[in-house]
Amino acid sequence: MNALQVLRQRLPLARPRIAVILGTGWADLALRVKDPLRIAYAELPGFPLPGVPGHASDLVWGRIGGHELVLLTGRQHTYETGDANSMKLALRTLYEWGCEVLVQTNAAGSLQAHIPAGSLMVLTDHINFSQRSPLIGETGAERFVSMVNAYDAELRTQALSAADVLGVKLQSGVYAWCVGPQFETPAEIRMFAQMGADAVGMSTVPETIIARHAGMRVLAFSLLTNMAAGLSNEVLSHRHTLAQAQAASGPACALLEQVIVGMEI
Ligand code: HPA
Repeated sequence: MNALQVLRQRLPLARPRIAVILGTGWADLALRVKDPLRIAYAELPGFPLPGVPGHASDLVWGRIGGHELVLLTGRQHTYETGDANSMKLALRTLYEWGCEVLVQTNAAGSLQAHIPAGSLMVLTDHINFSQRSPLIGETGAERFVSMVNAYDAELRTQALSAADVLGVKLQSGVYAWCVGPQFETPAEIRMFAQMGADAVGMSTVPETIIARHAGMRVLAFSLLTNMAAGLSNEVLSHRHTLAQAQAASGPACALLEQVIVGMEI
């Protein structure tokens, strides 16, 4: 059986329309899901087995507000294998299952003094600095997918309204993707700032490309866990990222829940 067949067999009545990838700091959204049902990626052929501390590897089906949805509690990063396409099968499976919208979340470093650590940002666009693509080797004209409006303008407007309802400050900005796993140099960060980036991180961009190619609408959020390299005296480390993400996780998950409750699709 393939992953879609397993999902249809385990959840024959399920009709999720929204898929959410939970990045660092966003895991507690799963606690806000009603009637959750968990399926380990290990049971879904082709789903990745993330190996980063702080990242889980389950699919959670359930409801938030009036929406039926699926959460992916972990993603495999390009820095784990060198492959930019490790989430391809999982995302295409969810699209075929009926998910028209992909909501992505991540932890990122801030390049902007007015977006301090602890801030939340909705992505308006990205810079694929690594120039790696999960679509290498695809055939057919669909591979030449437009990346204009990659982060759906209508969904972004809805997200900003949800933030207003909650009274949470939600920044907007451009996310630059570095493969990692090393953090950036201060010189790289100065270059990204000149290029127009507001945040930098090691994920999200490949999944956005896969989702746009499949035909999903994408909405994405960053939790800024630190000022990027050279912009403060903080010593960057994964432990620091996890600690900062944990500290800001409450408001982040409250916002994401409100965004999903209010989502009109
Ligand atoms: N750089 C890259 N990825 C990150 C950062 C950063 O500063 N913070 C959290 N994820």
